[in-house]
Amino acid sequence: MTKKELAHKPVLIKEIIKLTGPKDNETYFDATFGNGGYSKEFLEVSNCNIIAIDRDPYAKQIAREFKKKYGKRFNFFHSKFSQINEVMEKTKEKKINGFLFDIGVSSMQLDFPERGFSFIKEGPLDMRMGQKGTTAYDVVNSKSHAELADIIYYYGDERNSRRIAREIENYRKSKNIETTLELAEVVRKSFPNKYYKKHPATKTFQALRIYINNEIEELHSGLNHALKYLEKNGNLHVVTFHSLEDRLVKKFLKIVSQNNKLNKVLKPSKEEIEHNSRSRSAKLRFYEKNNLEFSYIPIEDLGFKQS
Ligand SMILES: C[S@@+](CC[C@H](N)C(=O)[O-])C[C@H]1O[C@@H](n2cnc3c(N)ncnc32)[C@H](O)[C@@H]1O
Repeated sequence: MTKKELAHKPVLIKEIIKLTGPKDNETYFDATFGNGGYSKEFLEVSNCNIIAIDRDPYAKQIAREFKKKYGKRFNFFHSKFSQINEVMEKTKEKKINGFLFDIGVSSMQLDFPERGFSFIKEGPLDMRMGQKGTTAYDVVNSKSHAELADIIYYYGDERNSRRIAREIENYRKSKNIETTLELAEVVRKSFPNKYYKKHPATKTFQALRIYINNEIEELHSGLNHALKYLEKNGNLHVVTFHSLEDRLVKKFLKIVSQNNKLNKVLKPSKEEIEHNSRSRSAKLRFYEKNNLEFSYIPIEDLGFKQS
């Protein structure tokens, strides 16, 4: 593995390990394998087993190294949250002692400009985690003003969405928007003020990424699958990086825990934020399953609509 591949620092891992207390022979499901930061820690602190998935084909390379090192204790599937039931069918496991979701993009996805996730590095407008289907280029260059404004508002929580959509539409009259920096510059122009705390394209890029990867539906589906396969007293950890996802997780856990105190929230320590600035907006929600009866929770019950 190159230095770059090892660069993703697992967020809130100490807290997750402390809350879970991984045990020998138990099986944990890492739904966002990425660079394997969570899986590695679990496999090192106990003699447990890991089933891991990631929708990004890049994760397969890292998973191969894990397989060599941990053998039968580690199994990886190139898959996504909405297919967890298919993955469970393929494995012999019937019940899982803990589910881990570390939502969002990995450092590697952000650090490789050719993936198109970064608004500070030049790259094609891609943003597809699974490297299949509609790209950011398709969306930015083909959607109408109203559709773009809705996407940016709904998934980015961006109040300036109409103006940004208008700026994009104007720019497209002369040429298509081809690259990340080109889009970032178009978005910047639609902000009247020169001074910002965050890069003005932050929310627009977030919105496009969530839309393209169907992240809200994926998360909703993943949480439902996790609750179905969790063992009694098994636990669920979800790390989110922005309020849209956190809202969904919070509402979901409120329903499943029937408002009792089995639903905890933690944020990274000052030391972790100093050491890893990407952790600053992270939030960990933890839930221990206390009841074996679980019935599917529709997305509308969480205050979201089916796209
Ligand atoms: C923040 S990273 C996880 C990093 C990992 N915990 C580590 O320590 O290396 C999120 C990962 O989740 C993956 N991912 C996001 N949405 C997914 C989905 N719906 N199904 C499967 N994997 C997904 C991304 O491809 C990315 O690799």
